[in-house]
Amino acid sequence: MTDAPTAPAPARADPSGSASDPEVGQRRLLPWRRAPFPAPWSAWFGREAPLHLEIGFGDGRFTVARAEAEPEHDFVGIEASGVSARRALGKVRAAGLGNVRLVKAGAQAAVRNLFGPGTLASVTVNFPDPWPKTRHEGNRLLRMPFLGTLAERLAPGGEIRLATDHEAYFAYATEQVRACGLYEVELRDPPPEVHRTKYALKWLAQGKGVHYAAYVRNDRPAPVLAPVRRPDRMPHALLHGRLPDAPSFEKTVLEVEGGHVILHEAMRAVAGDRGRDRLLVRVTVDEPDLIQQLLVAVQRREGNEHIVRLESFGDPIVTPAVRGAVHGVTEWLHAQGGWTVAARNY
Ligand SMILES: C[S@@+](CC[C@H](N)C(=O)[O-])C[C@H]1O[C@@H](n2cnc3c(N)ncnc32)[C@H](O)[C@@H]1O
Repeated sequence: MTDAPTAPAPARADPSGSASDPEVGQRRLLPWRRAPFPAPWSAWFGREAPLHLEIGFGDGRFTVARAEAEPEHDFVGIEASGVSARRALGKVRAAGLGNVRLVKAGAQAAVRNLFGPGTLASVTVNFPDPWPKTRHEGNRLLRMPFLGTLAERLAPGGEIRLATDHEAYFAYATEQVRACGLYEVELRDPPPEVHRTKYALKWLAQGKGVHYAAYVRNDRPAPVLAPVRRPDRMPHALLHGRLPDAPSFEKTVLEVEGGHVILHEAMRAVAGDRGRDRLLVRVTVDEPDLIQQLLVAVQRREGNEHIVRLESFGDPIVTPAVRGAVHGVTEWLHAQGGWTVAARNY
């Protein structure tokens, strides 16, 4: 297995990602937004092997220990924190492991998009953030509907393995698991390496015990939440007009299909290589389980024709709400006066 290439990935014409970029899967810290959905794990690992997922791997020491102990298996770790992902990447590199890929992402969006039905042998969650206050329970990882998505991605007989110091979290997750009816609960002793994660050591030093269970997939059908379907054609609009030197702009929140869009600011830019004037609008697209920060460009083409389209910056995933962002910028420009819309393709 090769190490992560040092050269940056080539610029992409298609910000929606494509199945044809072989470099994506060779990087140990995956640029997952550019991956095909679901991801071709067997092709990336170069073999058919049991595939295990760890969510919230922290500094990665458990991931590395497991991947070293089970070289015939493949391991994917998902972690929301960039600092932790970077630390874990250092460990994976230092260990020279080819059977590990790391993903810096929120687990809900990454699991939905990166794994096909029945493809995971196990899902490990060690010491998830407990969110102890009742009003924050909704932030807990192991709850419906995510348990349903995990059930659909697990292979028959596959299991979620939970370790936590937090009794209330343990009771909550187990109750959610029982209520969804897709797993059998098995209380077990944790394997020794669970006691050696950064957080395990912290809690054990404080005299806390570890609660451990396996939630084993039964044969009841799980709800299907398919990966996001990215369009073949990038959303765009064509307008005729003249870009204002100092655009008037107010932060705007728009309700769109699947979520909402915030237009934060508009900036004039000059694209040096092409010598064409552009205006960039910084946008947040907020959908359940997926928040994306992106740029929508208004780019001059011929004469006074301009195209409104998504920039590849940030590797956006083109969802219905992202199409709504292109629509929002088109409408904002139109409302400036002096613009006519020639085509809306979103
Ligand atoms: C308490 S730490 C435990 C870290 C590690 N498992 C250990 O035992 O040392 C919880 C970890 O889960 C990560 N996390 C929280 N929510 C997440 C999510 N939705 N997706 C991925 N990672 C998440 C946090 O960034 C943090 O690193």
